[in-house]
Amino acid sequence: MGPGPTGTRPPLPSRFRLLLLLASGVLGAGWAASGYLRGAPGAAPPPPRPLGDLRPATTPGRDGTRTQALVAPRTQAGLAPCPARSPHLKGADRLAFPPSLTWDDVRRDNPGVRPGGRHRPPECRASQSVAVLVPHRARERHLLYLLATLHPFLQRQQLDYGLYVVHQAGSGKFNRARLLNAGYLQALRERPWDCFVFHDVDLVPENDHNVYSCGPQPRHLVVGRNSTGYRLRYQGYFGGVTALTRDQFARVNGFSNNYWGWGGEDDDLRIRVELQKMQITRPSPDVARYTMIFHTRDKGNEENAGRMKLLNQVGRVWKTDGLNSCSYQLLALDHAPLFTNVTVAFPPGS
Ligand SMILES: *[C@@H]1O[C@H](CO)[C@@H](O)[C@H](O)[C@H]1NC(C)=O
Ligand SMILES: *[C@@H]1O[C@H](CO)[C@@H](O)[C@H](O)[C@H]1NC(C)=O
Repeated sequence: MGPGPTGTRPPLPSRFRLLLLLASGVLGAGWAASGYLRGAPGAAPPPPRPLGDLRPATTPGRDGTRTQALVAPRTQAGLAPCPARSPHLKGADRLAFPPSLTWDDVRRDNPGVRPGGRHRPPECRASQSVAVLVPHRARERHLLYLLATLHPFLQRQQLDYGLYVVHQAGSGKFNRARLLNAGYLQALRERPWDCFVFHDVDLVPENDHNVYSCGPQPRHLVVGRNSTGYRLRYQGYFGGVTALTRDQFARVNGFSNNYWGWGGEDDDLRIRVELQKMQITRPSPDVARYTMIFHTRDKGNEENAGRMKLLNQVGRVWKTDGLNSCSYQLLALDHAPLFTNVTVAFPPGS
């Protein structure tokens, strides 16, 4: 299998930077010790090699290309880091959901978005790469409204991001949590994303000061929504939109795969986070505001009556029910203009 919960190594760019740092130190020490710099070409003993396989890439070349191999993979290498706060933020936004809006309109409004729904700031180097995962079935209109807001929103935040829609095929019970597990595993096959935002399709962010990035602790980004008078739904609520690093999500073994229908899987994830002694953080209520697009409950997403029973056993089962046991059938992977469409099925009995 591809990169699973065990894929916890740091992202390549920082590894390369670390290598570069270590390598220059080793070379400096090596040269000084060996007299290389005092000019004895060919006679110099090799520099000490505590770092083993580092040497081929850092041996000084006659053509002066010594560090090129280390620097080249970073396409944004020449750019300065993005500022702590993007200068493009607008604050509270008036959302509109015009019935006449089309996918063509959204494409036209976002000319910089590349196939698969990718974008990164042209003017600076983002500190994290962020994959936004949206579980989906039969909500094309909501998806259109969400992406019409989200693409400009993420660009104003100067994020290096990719947008994934994880689509459940068939008409069996909806399984939001397993879709998100599948989306995480599939997205990591494309790129070692640093940060994952798990995003409901019917929640549209109102304020771009609510930055879609990860922190040292798991983050819950929905404090309020218009449907609840902008108050937290209940103490401990961890649903709607959450942000966890690749490693935080791997540490809790992702979501449970066993929540069919509506409800419970978000509380299950909160328990997993608490079992790992991590602490959920939230942005301030005045920015963590969402508009919930009205809808009736979908067919196939009826309330899950068995959720209380499942919630009582998280401590016992989390290690074997999650990313490491997530089975799904990948039916299609399509790099559409505004999102990567990951279509999966959960065969009966899986
Ligand atoms: C929240 O806003 C949406 C979009 O304007 C609207 O459809 C919905 O009815 C609102 N909900 C409440 C409870 O006001
Ligand atoms: C994603 O791809 C599947 C399979 O091709 C398709 O049925 C579905 O409509 C697509 N989803 C969206 C939101 O375009």
